[in-house]
Amino acid sequence: MTEGLTVTELAPKPAKPHLPDAQIVTSVKHWTDNLFSFRVTRPQSLRFRSGEFVMIGLMGDNGKPLLRAYSIASPNWDEELEFYSIKVPDGPLTSKLQHIKVGDEIILRPKPVGTLVHDALLPGKRVWFLATGTGLAPFASLMRDPETYEKYDQVIMMHTCRTADELEYGRQLVEELHNDELIGEMVAGKLRYYPTTTREETAQMGRITDNLTSGKVFDDLDLPRMNPAEDRAMVCGSLAFNVDVKAVLEGFGLREGANSEPLEYVVEKAFVGDGI
Ligand SMILES: Cc1cc2nc3c(=O)[nH]c(=O)nc-3n(C[C@H](O)[C@H](O)[C@H](O)COP(=O)(O)OP(=O)(O)OC[C@H]3O[C@@H](n4cnc5c(N)ncnc54)[C@H](O)[C@@H]3O)c2cc1C
Ligand SMILES: NC(=O)c1ccc[n+]([C@@H]2O[C@H](COP(=O)([O-])OP(=O)(O)OC[C@H]3O[C@@H](n4cnc5c(N)ncnc54)[C@H](OP(=O)(O)O)[C@@H]3O)[C@@H](O)[C@H]2O)c1
Repeated sequence: MTEGLTVTELAPKPAKPHLPDAQIVTSVKHWTDNLFSFRVTRPQSLRFRSGEFVMIGLMGDNGKPLLRAYSIASPNWDEELEFYSIKVPDGPLTSKLQHIKVGDEIILRPKPVGTLVHDALLPGKRVWFLATGTGLAPFASLMRDPETYEKYDQVIMMHTCRTADELEYGRQLVEELHNDELIGEMVAGKLRYYPTTTREETAQMGRITDNLTSGKVFDDLDLPRMNPAEDRAMVCGSLAFNVDVKAVLEGFGLREGANSEPLEYVVEKAFVGDGI
């Protein structure tokens, strides 16, 4: 039956080349035309603090790794790693990454770093997670980490996107957390979720900065105004958002901390390249 086939056709297929620091994609979910999440195998040796980011990517056309910073969206106890990603139409990485499928390989450099970690804040009563867009990713990790609920009496997740569909990944994650057998009890009564949209009419609207300065979020959640004695904050969004929300937090008397000097709030960019 093999008569007529060429030598090339008979030759065994070459094994798929293994990328350096390769991890295997285990699931992919597309949330909107611009957003998707995916899970990959976790390198056995990888230890990280919830909220940190790593460099991930694919092999570029030039044969060199094309890497970008990505917050790990899964908590540090998870046996896999989850990421929540934008799809930039002409983006060098995400124009390709958005097409990954289960079984594909991605590159993951196992060197986690970042400022959105519990160690960078002084102890407090409440922690505010303030995110726009994919800036939710580090908080998807921190919200699922029991340490967050051991450290704080109240955890407030403010997430703002343009439209309701862009909030869906976070909304489902919070819902699942409340129903989770293991962590659900810790979360109950402590995690307050405050999603808002800015360009689509929904039940709760407005920019995070506006809802903080007007006092609306404190009134809605029946919480006192932010103060440096009780409140801590972690911020992750566009550069413009980060700059504006920092001014708001400083207005409440909170000071920016770091791993080396824990204080009342910490900030990380959700991406680079958007000027203000
Ligand atoms: C510390 C850190 C953590 C990050 N974590 C994440 C993450 O968890 N998920 C994620 O999707 N991205 C994250 N990013 C952004 C990520 O590194 C890439 O920029 C993104 O994947 C796009 O890559 P690209 O090569 O397609 O386009 P790039 O050339 O990197 O970006 C092109 C343009 O797209 C816009 N852009 C890039 N990323 C975003 C974004 N996330 N949201 C909105 N606009 C964006 C910017 O205007 C940018 O100039 C993070 C960046 C930093 C610095
Ligand atoms: N053309 C489109 O329909 C479209 C859709 C999505 C993304 N994009 C592009 O993709 C990039 C990222 O978009 P993105 O939606 O993830 O991020 P984004 O444009 O930064 O907006 C995300 C959310 O943050 C709010 N925000 C922005 N700047 C703020 C600030 N200084 N203070 C407080 N809140 C602020 C936005 O409110 P406001 O709505 O009030 O600005 C929005 O609700 C942008 O360059 C954008 O142009 C375009």
